[in-house]
Amino acid sequence: MGIKSLGYMGFSVSDVPAWRSFLTEKVGLMEVVGSDDDNALYRMDSRSWRLAVDKGSTDDLAFAGYEVANPQALKSFTERLQEACVQVKTGDAQLAEKRGVMELISFEDPFGLPLEIYYGATEIFEQPFVSSRGITGFLTGDQGAGHYLYVVPNIEKGLEFYTGIMGFEMSDVIDIEMGQGITVRAYFLHCNGRHHSLAIAEAPLPKKIHHFLLQVLTLDDVGHAYDRIDGVKDSSSDSNLQVPENSDAAASKVTTTLGRHVNDHMISFYSETPSGFELEIGWGAREVDDQTWVMARHKRTAMWGHKSLRNK
Ligand SMILES: [Fe+2]
Repeated sequence: MGIKSLGYMGFSVSDVPAWRSFLTEKVGLMEVVGSDDDNALYRMDSRSWRLAVDKGSTDDLAFAGYEVANPQALKSFTERLQEACVQVKTGDAQLAEKRGVMELISFEDPFGLPLEIYYGATEIFEQPFVSSRGITGFLTGDQGAGHYLYVVPNIEKGLEFYTGIMGFEMSDVIDIEMGQGITVRAYFLHCNGRHHSLAIAEAPLPKKIHHFLLQVLTLDDVGHAYDRIDGVKDSSSDSNLQVPENSDAAASKVTTTLGRHVNDHMISFYSETPSGFELEIGWGAREVDDQTWVMARHKRTAMWGHKSLRNK
């Protein structure tokens, strides 16, 4: 009766036009009709939207929506939160309408991040997802929208909330050397077959999230996205998917080269979003099976690659 997946994410950004260009021209998402330079929505699959970008000042994750199966699951989840003394807002029909879901609850995690839990998202199979840049597709379905690496001021409190109350299972940890003798332990948490929908760490970083991830269906999708973000022109010059001349290459850049992670085995790269935090685009992750999975500890983030290009 717990959380099935990370369903959607919303970002508060100072430059919506830059994000619109980044998500369509570089990443290849489908912009929802009616999006404008204050509020924009994006599709990745048959859902009416998965990402929201709203004009704001924080340039950070503004909210995350987690999906449960049905009204009974939402009710029992609400009771679980209330028993844990979390203040839950229920019955907000206006917000549910805005999110395109049948019913939702909203509350804050221990660090003030707004969370929503919902059921009954709007599916529009009758209007197929079409990538603005020829991406084959995104891996979503029962694995949800992707994942994000969440930076918290107190890891014990964070784990208590996300594993103890939200019900995430631990996949593994990576002890990440941050330099100057600082090692940060990142915890990778799952709620379905996706190796992690949420990674959580106490780290000296300026924003709530270090990055979010979108997983594509083919390795070539990763490579083409890399070239678009790295400013390499599309070689198929007769294609209507060609990157436009004077596209704003300066507005986005690769921050970490192609590499493969030690824990989820994702082949991915990272780029800087117009808000400073990063986007990971990946393919080929392994999945967790709760019947057989045992957690592990890793001392590196990458099997190979993933060289940082920051400060280069
Ligand atoms: Fe990631």
